[in-house]
Amino acid sequence: MKKITSALVALGMGIALSASVQANTSDEAVVERIKAVGSVCIEGDDSCGGAAPVAAAGGAARSGEEVYNTKCAACHATGAAGAPKYGTPEWADRGTKGIDTLLSNAINGIGGMPPRGLCADCSDDELKASIEHMLAGSK
Ligand code: HEC
Repeated sequence: MKKITSALVALGMGIALSASVQANTSDEAVVERIKAVGSVCIEGDDSCGGAAPVAAAGGAARSGEEVYNTKCAACHATGAAGAPKYGTPEWADRGTKGIDTLLSNAINGIGGMPPRGLCADCSDDELKASIEHMLAGSK
């Protein structure tokens, strides 16, 4: 009987431990997501370092993969807010709209998709490249 009890205690601790590990992970994920949204700065707004996006826009164009990883993955890697998830057939469905429609919807925003995917300093070409990256990665 004593053996069974300690086995149950160990099991209970195991569950409690894994639950707290999970809680930590999702807390971090939430902080990461809030950070991404909180760090958005609209071009021309000096109150939040408006000069930075202008400087970035003057630099070399980033690859679609780079833009995706740094700007779009926050929602498109997880499917947050109903975003079509990277690597799933959801992107093949979107692809039927054609790249021009997808690009203009990404620029203007659509449903839960914010204008420019919250990337104020992304050029149209960079947005297009990152969409193509998501389409290619989800075939
Ligand atoms: C804050 C979350 C979020 C971020 C960040 C985000 N997206 Fe989205 N995106 C969404 C959601 C939600 C949808 C689904 C919108 C709908 O169809 O209702 C979506 C849909 C799209 C679509 C499909 C539009 C269509 O016509 O079906 C494209 C293209 C797209 N996103 C591109 C991007 C690109 C490129 C980036 C990065 C520069 C990006 N998104 C960043 C949330 C996000």
